[in-house]
Amino acid sequence: MAEWIRFAKEAAYKTRTGIVKIIGGVPVAVFKTISGFKGYIAVCTHKYHVLCVRELINGRYILCQGHGERFNVNTGEPIEGLANEPIKEVEVKVEDGVIYVAKPGEAIVNWVANINKE
Ligand code: FES
Repeated sequence: MAEWIRFAKEAAYKTRTGIVKIIGGVPVAVFKTISGFKGYIAVCTHKYHVLCVRELINGRYILCQGHGERFNVNTGEPIEGLANEPIKEVEVKVEDGVIYVAKPGEAIVNWVANINKE
């Protein structure tokens, strides 16, 4: 069962924007899309730049500032073909106006910790 970590107040968001924070030692991004909140480990699967962006491109894409990959905010799938894997989804829930994210598991924490060793 997920361990839930308080992330932000729902009121802190405008639609089509995101917030990035360190949760459990890894960067986590939560975006408000037109169909609800979506969470991801905020690490690009191309060359591991942190996905630290506020605005979604066209309201639908997360832009990596590394080399310009865009990820579909609803699926995490890469669009441009630079990254060959989707970004990793994080469970999100909203209760009483507060957004919570599932604490990243050991496998994710280890993946991020070992990025510069690959
Ligand atoms: S690191 Fe994200 S596009 Fe290269």
